[in-house]
Amino acid sequence: MFDPNRLIIFDTTLRDGEQSPGASMTKDEKVRIARQLERLRVDVIEAGFAAASPGDFEAIRAIASVVRESTICSLSRANDRDIARAAEALMPAERKRIHTFLATSPLHMKVKLRMEPEQVLEQAKLAVRFARNHTDDIEFSPEDGSRSDEDFLCRVLEAVIAEGATTINFPDTVGYATPEVYGETIRRLRERVPNSDKAIWSVHCHNDLGLAVANSLAGVAIGGARQIECTINGLGERAGNTALEEVVMALRTRADYYKLTLGIDTTQIVPASKMVSQITGFAVQPNKAVVGANAFAHASGIHQDGILKARETYEIMRAEDVGWHANKIVLGKLSGRNAFKARLQELGIELESEAEVNAAFARFKELADRKSEIFDEDIMALVSAEDHAQEGEYFRFVSLSQRSETGELPHARVVFQIDGKEFACEGSGDGPVDATVNAIESEAKTGADLILFSINAISGGTQSQGEVTMRLSRQGRIVNGVGADPDIVVASAKAYLSGLNKLHSKVEKAHPQL
Ligand code: KIV
Ligand code: ZN
Repeated sequence: MFDPNRLIIFDTTLRDGEQSPGASMTKDEKVRIARQLERLRVDVIEAGFAAASPGDFEAIRAIASVVRESTICSLSRANDRDIARAAEALMPAERKRIHTFLATSPLHMKVKLRMEPEQVLEQAKLAVRFARNHTDDIEFSPEDGSRSDEDFLCRVLEAVIAEGATTINFPDTVGYATPEVYGETIRRLRERVPNSDKAIWSVHCHNDLGLAVANSLAGVAIGGARQIECTINGLGERAGNTALEEVVMALRTRADYYKLTLGIDTTQIVPASKMVSQITGFAVQPNKAVVGANAFAHASGIHQDGILKARETYEIMRAEDVGWHANKIVLGKLSGRNAFKARLQELGIELESEAEVNAAFARFKELADRKSEIFDEDIMALVSAEDHAQEGEYFRFVSLSQRSETGELPHARVVFQIDGKEFACEGSGDGPVDATVNAIESEAKTGADLILFSINAISGGTQSQGEVTMRLSRQGRIVNGVGADPDIVVASAKAYLSGLNKLHSKVEKAHPQL
């Protein structure tokens, strides 16, 4: 029996989150994030969209093989081929869910699907019926639900529940909903759809109007939904999805109002946020609720005074409850391989082979030679760099020298490999990073456009490593390259080459909503 006061957290960072331009992740990166989501104790992990590409399929399978505590889910369009592919990828999972969807709004049915409403109704039924052959745990989403006709929605949802759908998700696909309207619609649907109590109702909100979290909470409080779909850091298409850290902390901090229980271990929120940000290259804005660097910083004198007298004066949550801790030096130049391995384990980083541990340890030693203090964030960046390197390093950084002086044109000399062959190239530019990119391009001639460049100090302070994200675009494909180094120009060269490697690997992927 389902406890009516228990709220299910369904994380879709690896599926909807990955649909953000440039956020694509490798299989190993997805497995690392999935393990962190398991430590966070999310109830359901949507690990991907199995039919999108062989890479997605393999990643879901790998996650289904190692994660034991959370239910593993694959998205699938409402057709037999996609559903069979999802079922195959989920085979090793202890608990599995197939999430099938079909658009129900007049616009999507007419323009995108080119189907009549009656055909959509029939296809939705057949999809759920087919999925039931593979698992009892079936979620159905009427895509663009918030712009669909309510009478038609009632018919579709009644039919899929009758076919055995156990979760009914109500997506606000384009972020059009507003809280009261969204919550009231779910409440009415639950009232009108026969046997609505045989399914758990779920919310899935996009953030185009900045209302994803508010809409999700209204879906729960007004509509009676008992599952929230969300992503770490609110990652997702366009303006993103509901941020897991925000809904979870709202439900927990205001438990007096919501009166719901959650299975989440909130102390794992900040580590999850940092991991997702480092892997995807999507920096977290400093004033982001819960996980932003300033979320618990009190700059004004009055606030600081109040906090010192009693922290509740200005703090509604405790930083340590969401996993913030003071930066502490964890390892140094003299630390050995065992201490390094133990720290990796404490951080929840499980490298698969001894060879991988050795490679990461070699990078750690190299870093410790150049940087006096090594923090947890440095170790995470180092392992991230290792993951990026595994993407098949067609382009590989070797060394860099650079000169800039006030009044002079900056100049860079970069040594790097292309497919194993070494090149030394020179370039000038408006600044040292521009000169570096020009030097690389003088030989690589990739024609990639740099559309975003950001630098973030990993652990604060001038001795911090710089973490650089470079978003590159070529022929409609967008990727994020990430690089870290105590020298920010070197970090930039590494980020640019990591982006080029991603562009070089030809990943063909179907988009679920096209
Ligand atoms: O936004 C959306 O409609 C989706 C569905 C596939 C659930 O992501
Ligand atoms: Zn979505």
